Amino acid sequence: MTASSAMTEEEVVDLCRRHSLFEWGTQNVAPRAIARAEGCYLYTVAGDRILDFSSIAMNANIGHGDQRVTEAVATQMANVAFVSPFMATEVRALAAQKLAEVTPAGMSKSFFTLAGADANEVAMRTARLVTGRSKILTRYRSYHGGTRATLAASGDPRRWPVEGGMGDIVRIPDPYHYRFPLIEDAAEFRDFNLSQIDEIIRLEGPHTIAAVMVEPITGSNGLIVPPDGWLAGLKQLCQKYEILLICDEVMSGFGRTGAWFAVDHEGVTPDIMTVAKGITSGYVPLGACVMSDSISELLADIPIGSGMTYQSHPVGLAAAVATMAIYETDDLIARSASRGQYLLRGLHELQSRHASVGDVRGKGLFTALELVYDRETRQELFPLTGPAVPAADEMKAVFAGRGLHTVLRGPWLFAVPPLVVTEEQIDWALSVFDEALDHADAATSSAGATPPPHLA
Ligand SMILES: Cc1ncc(COP(=O)(O)O)c(C=O)c1O
Repeated sequence: MTASSAMTEEEVVDLCRRHSLFEWGTQNVAPRAIARAEGCYLYTVAGDRILDFSSIAMNANIGHGDQRVTEAVATQMANVAFVSPFMATEVRALAAQKLAEVTPAGMSKSFFTLAGADANEVAMRTARLVTGRSKILTRYRSYHGGTRATLAASGDPRRWPVEGGMGDIVRIPDPYHYRFPLIEDAAEFRDFNLSQIDEIIRLEGPHTIAAVMVEPITGSNGLIVPPDGWLAGLKQLCQKYEILLICDEVMSGFGRTGAWFAVDHEGVTPDIMTVAKGITSGYVPLGACVMSDSISELLADIPIGSGMTYQSHPVGLAAAVATMAIYETDDLIARSASRGQYLLRGLHELQSRHASVGDVRGKGLFTALELVYDRETRQELFPLTGPAVPAADEMKAVFAGRGLHTVLRGPWLFAVPPLVVTEEQIDWALSVFDEALDHADAATSSAGATPPPHLA
């Protein structure tokens, strides 16, 4: 028990389980109870220290417990905690102005939302509204949110229970080069992938398509970094067919990839860009749908048709203003780029010693390993859905035992720390990965293991 908690960790967890329901899965969960957090560390009620190597939900970019955000939020609450989204506030003005400054040129108006999912809802709805068309093209390897419409638009298997009746989503193939070894050259693969998308657009009928919606660098569905020039090529396709491009930067935004936004690496200005997570680093929920000037001009006369009580919430906006200032004053964007290179080198070194590591991918501090049963065939060691493979549980036990918070989702082991991470913390986390990967190696063909059930 810590000074700040009147309950033991066990009591906290028991009471949470008794009276609240946990997200996504069954209620057979054993969460840690977190009492405090600072920098890259989480501290449990029992007093254990955990290194956060996933920025909680890949959102805590500036790190935890930054008092500059806490003070900005407290000051805002002391002045005015809530006003209607139909009212103006200074903090709304400042947050919107700053977003216009850091997002690509030609995107100067934002619609503030509660989180990423509703930002994507607004993006899709706006695209349909201004084009008068219904279809949205999305990718199989994608996640756009947990509401019904955004989940149905995602390719993530979590869509399966809800997608019935949510027509007008058409999926396009992913620029996932590692999973398409037939074409070795990255530029050739890029052109092939874009030509497939071109054909799908023609066969669907460009006049029926409102938008293409993509994560510029896919997050939870495999950390897929497309070949250079892919996003710029997609933008050209959209222009050719007069289709809008929506870029979902909810996870990849705010320095995560070593640039303000992943689109910056390609010099692409989307028609609509959605953000959340890093905009406040999770201190208070907030999202935004950032519109290009041409879309904003259309919205001057078309009713926007979206709104909720808590949108443009002053407290969330105060957190956003403080957080966006910290990216600059602490030089976190450049730091993500340089620390990301350091992390990537360490991950490659692990690949050189562990047979289970098939691929290493990443940009900035947005990185992951892809674990395979066999490096030649590239068969996935752990499935995204389906029967569990014991080695995955063994790896998770190593992370829990050593005090490392990270995400192993299907075959992807993510390394996505807060941008304030130090080289020493990276080294320590990689030593824990090293230990956990021994369990993965023992389940590979090179160790003589039988194929896991999903490959049988
Ligand atoms: C790319 C992407 N888009 C949208 C969302 C949904 O954001 P939120 O959970 O804030 O609604 C997420 C969440 O993980 C995401 O990764």
